[in-house]
Amino acid sequence: MTNPQWNAVDEYFSRTIAPADDALTAALAASTAAGLPEIAVAPNQGKLLHLLAGMQGARNILEIGTLGGYSTIWLARALPADGRLITLEYDPAHADVARANIARAGLDKIVEVRTGAALDSLPVLEAEGAGPFDLVFIDADKVNNPRYVEWALKLSRPGTVIIVDNVVRGGRITTAQPDDPAITGTRELFDLVAREPRLDATALQTVGTKGYDGLLLARVIG
Ligand SMILES: C[S@@+](CC[C@H](N)C(=O)[O-])C[C@H]1O[C@@H](n2cnc3c(N)ncnc32)[C@H](O)[C@@H]1O
Repeated sequence: MTNPQWNAVDEYFSRTIAPADDALTAALAASTAAGLPEIAVAPNQGKLLHLLAGMQGARNILEIGTLGGYSTIWLARALPADGRLITLEYDPAHADVARANIARAGLDKIVEVRTGAALDSLPVLEAEGAGPFDLVFIDADKVNNPRYVEWALKLSRPGTVIIVDNVVRGGRITTAQPDDPAITGTRELFDLVAREPRLDATALQTVGTKGYDGLLLARVIG
């Protein structure tokens, strides 16, 4: 679902208060040229991630689902010079594009792209003692969202912020049949968050250039 007025307003927001620069523009152009799907967050959503990371004073960020590194760049720009961002990507071709985009943005000293299924990479991060992360952004295969939130909790501290993208899917969160695994995963995610005493959470519906969707925002409270 999309709407010309949503697009116009999103483009107005992005043009006025979340403008692109050469690195962001090049990241999207290189991703498109490499044939990656155009499913990165919108510019104003990238700016939201950047602001949330900054408000959180994040020094250590985990991202699950890199694509071409567009959201990675927005998040990493909120980090201090000695900060760290680890981003997990299944597809080696996506990871290669992301590494080049991140290097062009001058962020390769603080960002590490790890290739492989996130559910394989996350136990490795735990074994390495990579956490606790100050912010976790989850934007990969939606069917595994409940598992990713469980891992985010394991790699968190009280105060960690967890953001899960694409929890509305054009409203299908309430209307889809239970044979859609992405929607089943998202409903399981909401059940998990609702019964998890260590999480305080809300969710918002969004409209814009990425259609009708939404995000879940949670804070670890214990
Ligand atoms: C929506 S895109 C990420 C967009 C990116 N966060 C952005 O806004 O610029 C989802 C990415 O997750 C990756 N992915 C899918 N399944 C995965 C898995 N099991 N482990 C890690 N990454 C996965 C896909 O290859 C894709 O690149």
